[in-house]
Amino acid sequence: MDAERARRLAFVARPGSTPLRIARTEGAWLYTEEGQAILDASGGAIVANVGHGRREVAEAYARELERASYLLPPFATESRLRLVERLVQRWLPAGLTRVAFTSGGSESVDAALRIVRAHHLAAGRPGRWKVIGRDLSYHGTTLATLAVGGHTKRRAGFEPWLPELPKAPACYCWRCPLGKTYPSCAVQCADEVEAAILRAGPDTVAAVIAEPIGGSTAGALVPPDEYWPRLAEICRRHGVLLIADEVMTGFGRTGKKFGVDHWGVIPDLLIGGKGLTGGYAPMGAVFAREEVVAPIAAAGQELMFFTYSAHPASCAAADRVLQILEREALVARAATMGEKLGKRLSRLLAHPNVGDVRGRGLLWAVELVADKATRAPFEARARLTEKVVAAGIAQGIFVYPGGVDPARDVITLGPPFTISEQEIEMIGERLERAIESAVARLH
Ligand SMILES: Cc1ncc(COP(=O)(O)O)c(C=O)c1O
Repeated sequence: MDAERARRLAFVARPGSTPLRIARTEGAWLYTEEGQAILDASGGAIVANVGHGRREVAEAYARELERASYLLPPFATESRLRLVERLVQRWLPAGLTRVAFTSGGSESVDAALRIVRAHHLAAGRPGRWKVIGRDLSYHGTTLATLAVGGHTKRRAGFEPWLPELPKAPACYCWRCPLGKTYPSCAVQCADEVEAAILRAGPDTVAAVIAEPIGGSTAGALVPPDEYWPRLAEICRRHGVLLIADEVMTGFGRTGKKFGVDHWGVIPDLLIGGKGLTGGYAPMGAVFAREEVVAPIAAAGQELMFFTYSAHPASCAAADRVLQILEREALVARAATMGEKLGKRLSRLLAHPNVGDVRGRGLLWAVELVADKATRAPFEARARLTEKVVAAGIAQGIFVYPGGVDPARDVITLGPPFTISEQEIEMIGERLERAIESAVARLH
């Protein structure tokens, strides 16, 4: 791959910028054509949970493709049935027993939105259609998922196509949108969800959607422990379905199988993606309680599939990735290595421009600011995050850019669960050097 060809064939060509040309991947590492080794500290877009280069997954995928190249999604295949059984028996919170597969996170959220609407329609509640999301959230990039999301940068310009849906404040304790401090705040952000339901009119609300731990929008926003149990209670009281979007947090990323497991909450619907196949195949899923699907089934309706939903080879890849997570006890490892990563990243707080370091398990974020005392961000035109990512690559580390105002500059970290202590040390050193060099270029 020569550089000029890579530039020319990018969908949006950026003058002076060449897409990273990766020749191969292994473990927690990316290798460029020129032989540079880059530590994948974000597992791509927080995806590569079992690490790169697992031959057994590639073999399981290939074997399934040889057996059946493509089948209509509702057909029963051994690979899908096996995967559903594994998920229900070993992975999902108790009670989530219905499983629909798609080709990714956005498609899964989109399907979940249709499911909650279909549920209320079939149950004789046609007035319930609004889905309440939160500020500083991301649920995907289709029009419906942008509408329920609170990622202002990704929504920008598309607003005429996005229905106005109520939003509740984010759990962003470091810059509390309500101007409060935990614990004296009494977790008012949760009560704000109820206030949004009441303002919208409970009889018009179909569901609330939230990420258990905010992903890369504002960077690893961990809510207070009271938040999710209270959210579940509020939804139950108002007959509103609760959707946990675990596309980023699911399958061990935060040190438990699912983010909601930190608080023992069982949502009505849970959405998975990314870690379900660890990047080995494009796949997402919607998991639902029996009671959510029962009225739809009783009304004789179906969930319209996407052509590539439940692709047999993707099912085989997912099943093998879950087996690896189980065999190597990688969820527990995400918890222990996550603590070590958190400790190492906290040392960056000594830097004058590192405002906050936050996260859980192996999902972490570093928020950069111009002034630590006032928490004022750098000017938007400085494009600091972009510069840190570029400087990181020069230093041999890939970090995922995040950040939406007021969390303007955020670096998100989510390495494979197989990350070693030595590699964690490298993440700390290389990220610090990348921040140093990017900030120096601003002056
Ligand atoms: C919480 C959450 N939901 C949905 C999505 C969209 O997933 P995809 O990019 O696979 O469509 C993402 C992607 O980052 C995500 O983090």
